[in-house]
Amino acid sequence: MSKATNTKRITLMDLKGRKGQDPIVCLTAYTTSISRLLDDQVDLMLVGDSLGMVLYGMDSTLGVTVDMMIAHGQGVMRGSDRACIIVDMPFGSYEESPQMAFRNCSRVMAETRCSGVKLEGGAEMAETISFLVKRGIPVVAHIGLTPQSVHVLGGFKSQGKTDEAAEQIVADAKAVAAAGASLVVVEGVMEPLAVRITNEIDVPTIGIGASAQCDGQILVTEDILGLFAEFKPKFVKRYAQMDEMITEAVGAYKTEVLNRAFPAPEHCFGYKGPLGHNNPPKEQK
Ligand code: KIV
Repeated sequence: MSKATNTKRITLMDLKGRKGQDPIVCLTAYTTSISRLLDDQVDLMLVGDSLGMVLYGMDSTLGVTVDMMIAHGQGVMRGSDRACIIVDMPFGSYEESPQMAFRNCSRVMAETRCSGVKLEGGAEMAETISFLVKRGIPVVAHIGLTPQSVHVLGGFKSQGKTDEAAEQIVADAKAVAAAGASLVVVEGVMEPLAVRITNEIDVPTIGIGASAQCDGQILVTEDILGLFAEFKPKFVKRYAQMDEMITEAVGAYKTEVLNRAFPAPEHCFGYKGPLGHNNPPKEQK
């Protein structure tokens, strides 16, 4: 069942106008149920390709496909009528040429009805970002630690550690902002570098492992809930230990099934007449 109300959805243009105002609150969402829970609290939900690792147990995001992103994007849209919904473009679906990017991004936009797409990459993606924006596709850029380039970066490591590397990330931020990106996700960089980028571009920065001075923050929802224990980057803060709650709840269910304490009478269908629970009515002669 989709969430049908008259609420006005937050647009990327609204968020672009929030530079220097209250921080923009963002989280990932991959499913309708999580989308329903987050929709009233966050400004933006990202259907991140991190779903490959978090939901599908992949060791990187490289195996995620456009079809997977569309299926999850549609699910998230069904649970939301308020937040701005952005869908990540997966590895291999946009890098080759602006035309290829347009074909895949327009399909994602048309089939999910999301508010925009996110692409990884800096100056080298500026031409593509400009091509997409000019043709009606709002784009969120993603610079710094870009997980789709994990093999080139040599692992999920913080970026911009030398002066030269830091200058390149500043140049990336300026290039994607000038190309028309509505927001710039800045991941895994030293705090002073994130602050400098935030001060030097007029587009809001969304930090992840960056700085509280960014114009907004994003994390993976399963990380903050304690539902993804395989990999915990330094920048993740756990706000709940839902893995422990699930283990405890499943243990309680298992015990009750083994003891035949579940299902109890109130969970069973049956005749509730004067003869008591579950006594079938007498056949009429
Ligand atoms: O794929 C993802 O979830 C992301 C972020 C968390 C920024 O790109």
